[in-house]
Amino acid sequence: KPQDPPPPLVDNGTKLVNDAEHPWMPLRDGDKRGPCPGLNTLASHGWLPRDGVATPQQIIAASQEGFNFESQIARRFTYSSHLIDGNLVTDLLSIGAKTDKTGPDPPAPANPGGLNLHGAIEGDASMTRGDAYWGDNWHFNETQFSELLEFMDKYGDGLYNYKVAGEFRYQRIQESIATNPQFNFTGGRFFAAYIETVVGANLFSDGRRNDSQVPADAARGFFQDSRMPDDFHRAAKPFGTEGVEVVIGAHPFSPGRNVNGINTYTIDPNSPTFESDPDGCAQYEMFVNEAVVPLYPNPTGVLRRNLNINLQHYFDTFGGKCEQLFPYGKP
Ligand code: HEM
Ligand code: MG
Repeated sequence: KPQDPPPPLVDNGTKLVNDAEHPWMPLRDGDKRGPCPGLNTLASHGWLPRDGVATPQQIIAASQEGFNFESQIARRFTYSSHLIDGNLVTDLLSIGAKTDKTGPDPPAPANPGGLNLHGAIEGDASMTRGDAYWGDNWHFNETQFSELLEFMDKYGDGLYNYKVAGEFRYQRIQESIATNPQFNFTGGRFFAAYIETVVGANLFSDGRRNDSQVPADAARGFFQDSRMPDDFHRAAKPFGTEGVEVVIGAHPFSPGRNVNGINTYTIDPNSPTFESDPDGCAQYEMFVNEAVVPLYPNPTGVLRRNLNINLQHYFDTFGGKCEQLFPYGKP
């Protein structure tokens, strides 16, 4: 049976996390890394299993311990990702490509493909990774990172911060509209694309600075090498989406997609936004009904039990404000 998520940290201040027990180590054959520089870094420092395959419980614990990621958002990211990309029977998720290490797959259309799987979780217009349309949605992309460095110089005095995030988020969207005929910026991706930019500012900043600003060399370390700077201290308090209103406010934008090739971006009025869905209930419903249920139309046994457990943990991150859905019956 899957372990429950860890509680929020009790000792939740800054501390050395690039410590003697968690040295950076280079990848070994078969180690998986993927589109999330935070999880990649946790794995390369041994806060997560170094092979990049972990349980939701381990992922939440490592994000809290290693970076001081706030509990609610850590659980929401983790359980949503696990429900789509993980193996719900063995309770294992690859933070990168699909691997046999997550165990035998449940019957299709379930597809425990790891975080690299393009779809409901990994999506377009990432900052330092390309769109899946171009064939690689998870390797560090030097061209995009160089552009980010230019934005850091122009808008952040050489640092990555909310202001830079606001400008670069918009720039990446514009690039995808103009180059990716299949650009999709709807559903959960719309929210995640904004939130991820500030999670980087909040958690890649050294807790002793406590200003959500990230020097360029530290940013390259995290994004490219999955590596914390020497002597890195985690954030000074649990951080989640702080600053996202700055990023949204810099260039207000609506969810949509290129409907007929490049430069055909069309707003999808049914896709929720931060304004239309402040409590996240539409996001919750859409995720359960349109992302999870199609993958698991008729689960039985342990699979059904674990779906219910994971759906419960995901629902719990909405703080009781939404009506709970039971697509597999009440457990
Ligand atoms: C991106 C998952 C925690 C920082 C992503 C992506 C996924 C993901 C799937 C790729 C989305 C995309 O850009 O297409 C998760 C999960 C977490 C987690 C399941 C579990 C708690 C963290 C932490 C940090 C972090 C702790 C920072 C310390 C980022 C950043 C990006 C990102 C900055 C954007 C990368 C870019 O646009 O180039 N995450 N993440 N994440 N994640 Fe995480
Ligand atoms: Mg992406």
